[in-house]
Amino acid sequence: MIVFDRVTKQYRAGEPALRDVSFHIAPGEFVVITGPSGAGKTTLLQLVYRELVPSSGRVVVDGRELAEMSWRQVPALRRRIGIVFQDFRLLPRRTVAENVSFVLRALAWPVSRRRERTRRVLEWVGLAHRAHDWPQSLSGGEQQRVAIARALAAEPRLLLADEPTGNLDPARSLEILGLLREIHSRGTTVVLATHDMTLIESAGVREIHLREGRIEEDRKVA
Ligand SMILES: Nc1ncnc2c1ncn2[C@@H]1O[C@H](COP(=O)(O)OP(=O)(O)O)[C@@H](O)[C@H]1O
Ligand SMILES: [Mg+2]
Repeated sequence: MIVFDRVTKQYRAGEPALRDVSFHIAPGEFVVITGPSGAGKTTLLQLVYRELVPSSGRVVVDGRELAEMSWRQVPALRRRIGIVFQDFRLLPRRTVAENVSFVLRALAWPVSRRRERTRRVLEWVGLAHRAHDWPQSLSGGEQQRVAIARALAAEPRLLLADEPTGNLDPARSLEILGLLREIHSRGTTVVLATHDMTLIESAGVREIHLREGRIEEDRKVA
């Protein structure tokens, strides 16, 4: 599903943010990208959704080499990818439900399907009862669950999460991790970037550990 083949990304003169990074991620995997701040985790995820293109090497997603994709084709790629950020990025003047259904409106889903899907994903993250509230009236953990519902709304096969627990306390962080694992168990490929090593103490995930832009370790956490 995702192939990195000798990828180097250099923003400007100096040390590259990623150097000679190669890995495969198969459909249905749960992969945690770890490493200290500045290791290259965000850069790696941005290459997957073509926010960035590599300085050298190839990034292939679903069989398509992203550097060969024209800008017109990028929205179609992003529609198949759900993305969750540390700072939630909810629209403040839209209700919780509107934040979720907005995506589906942009995809021209008919109103009835939109409503049904929005209800379903909000139920699923445990927030159906907050559907008509403003995002700011929710706790951080709840806002992140709305962001996850929004990322899942259009049924992506791939979910990317960049430090989704960075603004949350440990208990809320574990809740979010549990949700991501549940999403994974339903068949979605999940790639989670985090500097929080305590999050990956749970068994069975694959860890790709970055340090100064290089893969230092690629292992299954036992
Ligand atoms: N837009 C940018 N312009 C220049 N340098 C950047 C940019 N984004 C990230 N970097 C640099 O690239 C390196 C990797 O950053 P990043 O991918 O954000 O790491 P992480 O997410 O692991 O903290 C860091 O040295 C960072 O300063
Ligand atoms: Mg980052």
